[in-house]
Amino acid sequence: LNYNVRRERSCILQVLFNGLRRLEYRGYDSAGVSIDASSVSLPPLVFRQEGNIESLVKSVYQEVDATDLNLAESFLTHAGIAHTRWATHGEPATKNSHPQSSGAENEFLVVHNGVITNHEVLKQTLIRHGFTFESDTDTEVIPKLAKYVFDKSNEDSGDTTVTFSQVVLEVMRHLEGAYALIFKSRHYPNELIACKRGSPLLLGVKELTEESSKGSLFHDDKYPTQNGNPRELFLSSDANALVEHTRKVLVIEDGEVVHLKDGGVSILKFEGDKGKRGVLSRPASVQRALSVLEMEVEQIHKGNYEHYMQKEIHEQPESLTTTMRGRLIRGGTCKAKTVLLGGLKDHLKTIRRSRRIVFIGCGTSYNAALAARPILEELSGIPVTMEIASDLLDRQGPIYREDTAVFVSQSGETADTLHALEYALQNGALCVGITNTVGSAIARKTHCGVHINAGAEIGVASTKAYTSQIVVMAMLALAIGGDAISNQARREAIIDCLFDLPNKVRDVLKLDQEMKDLAKLLIAEQSLLMFGRGYNYATALEGSLKVKEVALMHSEGILAGEMKHGPLALVDESLPIVVIATRDACFSKQQSVIQQLHARKGRLIVMCSSGDATAVSLGGACRVIEVPRVEDCLQPVVNIVPLQLLAYHLTVLRGYNVDQPRNLAKSVTTE
Ligand code: G6P
Repeated sequence: LNYNVRRERSCILQVLFNGLRRLEYRGYDSAGVSIDASSVSLPPLVFRQEGNIESLVKSVYQEVDATDLNLAESFLTHAGIAHTRWATHGEPATKNSHPQSSGAENEFLVVHNGVITNHEVLKQTLIRHGFTFESDTDTEVIPKLAKYVFDKSNEDSGDTTVTFSQVVLEVMRHLEGAYALIFKSRHYPNELIACKRGSPLLLGVKELTEESSKGSLFHDDKYPTQNGNPRELFLSSDANALVEHTRKVLVIEDGEVVHLKDGGVSILKFEGDKGKRGVLSRPASVQRALSVLEMEVEQIHKGNYEHYMQKEIHEQPESLTTTMRGRLIRGGTCKAKTVLLGGLKDHLKTIRRSRRIVFIGCGTSYNAALAARPILEELSGIPVTMEIASDLLDRQGPIYREDTAVFVSQSGETADTLHALEYALQNGALCVGITNTVGSAIARKTHCGVHINAGAEIGVASTKAYTSQIVVMAMLALAIGGDAISNQARREAIIDCLFDLPNKVRDVLKLDQEMKDLAKLLIAEQSLLMFGRGYNYATALEGSLKVKEVALMHSEGILAGEMKHGPLALVDESLPIVVIATRDACFSKQQSVIQQLHARKGRLIVMCSSGDATAVSLGGACRVIEVPRVEDCLQPVVNIVPLQLLAYHLTVLRGYNVDQPRNLAKSVTTE
């Protein structure tokens, strides 16, 4: 190689470390990395530890510097793997971090996203074959199984002709559960194999020009490509780790095995039966076109903001505009106001004929669907039911062919929602996806759908995706409702309001300082209740979810209609309570709730429509948050913003990690 070793050394590690940094937002407790050693006579190097990426980076470079050139030479090769782990099986600890190894000599190394459900059976079998286990993870069976398969194949055939992909295909045969895996092996230096079932995996391809390849990882005759240009190849479970290198990606499908060798890529499709032992199958080779990620690098940077959550709250006027772009039509003289959702147009008739619409999601996505439910019922006249994905699966609740099941998910990869989708598909329902991630499993597996186009959301606590989801579901209600004359005035009012919604959100963001002041008052509280009803029951649930997940303060969203059936017992002069009482059909009922809470000396913070302060403050007894009034069904989009700001400021003031709250992950790809 014609460039210096030190530069190269930092290059391979920098790519891996930067990739890990891009995944930090998903939530993790430990991290690790592995690269080839300088010669095949040495095992691959593995560095891993509990804690954050920067401490891993520091300790790797300390080790590199301590051993200096000897170790530096080992960075001449170009295939590395890295991983952030969010503990599922086994506590956060170095021994449980990935890469997991086949044992001494690191003959096989594996990084894994997902859960292997039959790991206990595999472990016992491997123990009977003389393997010993060091970690408490489900993953450790995978590299050990790979070593077993490798040794056995060589024993049976008497030589070492088994290929890396044959080993992995055989391993896959025995695995049950969900996984995206990358294998690295001492026996196949400078090669990587990736495969998946259930968990997401992307391959990024960066073709380099003569000029841009100078100093690149693949500036080497050993890595020719078809057009003669060198290229870099990247595998990741998340587009955020790829976008700074390339936007050309291949979404890897379930059962595929991707083999990277000498700068080339080959993909095989695994067709064998799960659990079936015996001869290696002859998998078919796969050819597919690359797609282009619609994502800008700026989206994954914080810009002038201190935290991603703060940035994402403040960019809601823009994200809402993008969500609606090209979908709302406010025609000329003879053209009616209408919405166009391209991804649904061939299915609207079927949806209109459905016996019911079932919304399915988790966390914030569920809350967004709850906020949109009333308008969908009103405009479509079809019964709408709500399902938390895990609960639907636990009950194996009835889903029929005549149902339309709508799957709402920011990431498009949440395991519970994905499994509920598989369940609904089996039951014959029409499945609609509402996601923020093009190419995600939910986007691909549903029959049709709408992308919310809110842009990359990095903060673990969902903010801009929530408001964009509500807007998409309001547009869905308009599209399903069609152009019935009886609804025309209502429909047009909603469309007019949608056009103006980004401005209203811009106005409500001006409450930032006021919410910071309120956060200062609440900083030491143990608990915060939020009461809402009608359109804003979801606002109470979502506001309290924000406070709970990032500010680590107990908070509960309560349906105000249920106040007298239990929650009232909690009210005294010390408990702060947010009551959402913006103008809609429930306003007078909420006024009465305020009266009753005040009579029990509750410490009230009332959210009301601009100009209503006197009507709700009980002569100054309550603190008031005034927000702009919009169409009732879109009011949740405006109302959530001050509560997002409150949660954000509470978190900063209480000194907690805003973007990576304790124990939480952005994308929960395990059940
Ligand atoms: C996790 C995240 C939440 C998110 C939920 C559903 O719990 O921390 O912010 O609302 O998953 O995720 P999804 O990607 O399906 O919307």
